[in-house]
Amino acid sequence: MFDWANRVIGWQDPDYRVSAAFDPSGATELGRAAHALRPTPGPDALMPDPRSREGMPDLYAYAHALGTLRREQPGEDVMSILMAQRDDSGGSVSVEEFENLFWLFAVAGNETTRNGMPGGLIGLLGAPEAQRALRSDPTLVPGAVEEMLRWWTPVMTFRRTATREVELSGVQVQAGDKVVVSFASANRDPEVFPDPDIFDIGRANARRHLAFGAGPHVCLGAFLARSMMTTMFTRLLDRTSWVQAAGEPAWLQSNFQRGVKRLPIAWQR
Ligand code: HEM
Repeated sequence: MFDWANRVIGWQDPDYRVSAAFDPSGATELGRAAHALRPTPGPDALMPDPRSREGMPDLYAYAHALGTLRREQPGEDVMSILMAQRDDSGGSVSVEEFENLFWLFAVAGNETTRNGMPGGLIGLLGAPEAQRALRSDPTLVPGAVEEMLRWWTPVMTFRRTATREVELSGVQVQAGDKVVVSFASANRDPEVFPDPDIFDIGRANARRHLAFGAGPHVCLGAFLARSMMTTMFTRLLDRTSWVQAAGEPAWLQSNFQRGVKRLPIAWQR
């Protein structure tokens, strides 16, 4: 999962696009069979495009095997529940649909929070008064997480295709035009968030951020992400008496994810 998410989200990054941390010797049969299909970098040292089926044969093989297994031998896990669903006309998720959903969950549910957390911490490391406030009143952590999501915006953009002619802020958009939505820009809109570049955990309307998108495709995992980040920061502050930066972060090379590959910190117990 770690390698798959790195290869897909970090396809522009020299380290992540060839991520190979997985050791198949400790894997399940499914894992070993999928790993055997892992592509290798070409003469240009690049991996095949991971945003295509051809670029991720190991992930799709694993998803196919898992979907088939969970259909035939359902358990209590999320994937079994998904495969057991029947809609009003008795329809169910096909194994092919499952493969694509698996790709989505493996990627959307992993890298995003993994970049949201260090992003949030970078905000805190730059605002000692915020860290002090959270330490004296941990009930402020959920609100701070909203400001972290607004200020950091892990998923910077998404793209849409116009289905019809429309005017947007005085700009004509034709049917078929590609429209890149910048959540990062929206979350720094001074008309909505005064002093938008300031990391302010007391910001009353931080929750208005669009870090999870909006509309019919709003993030399916938003509540899970919020609860993971709230738990992580509550525990971090609970187990330390102070946290400070201990070197420069290493950034993910990407125009999609605002990612952090390494964040050196020092803490006092
Ligand atoms: C901080 C963490 C996260 C951020 C910033 C984030 C952000 C986003 C954004 C911006 C979208 C696209 C919305 C759009 O197209 O307009 C999205 C979609 C989605 N996210 Fe998240 N996400 C996060 C965590 C998660 C987690 C933990 C999961 C869990 C599985 C998840 C699953 C999904 C799925 C399935 C979609 C597609 C929804 C759809 O197309 O209907 N995300 N997310």
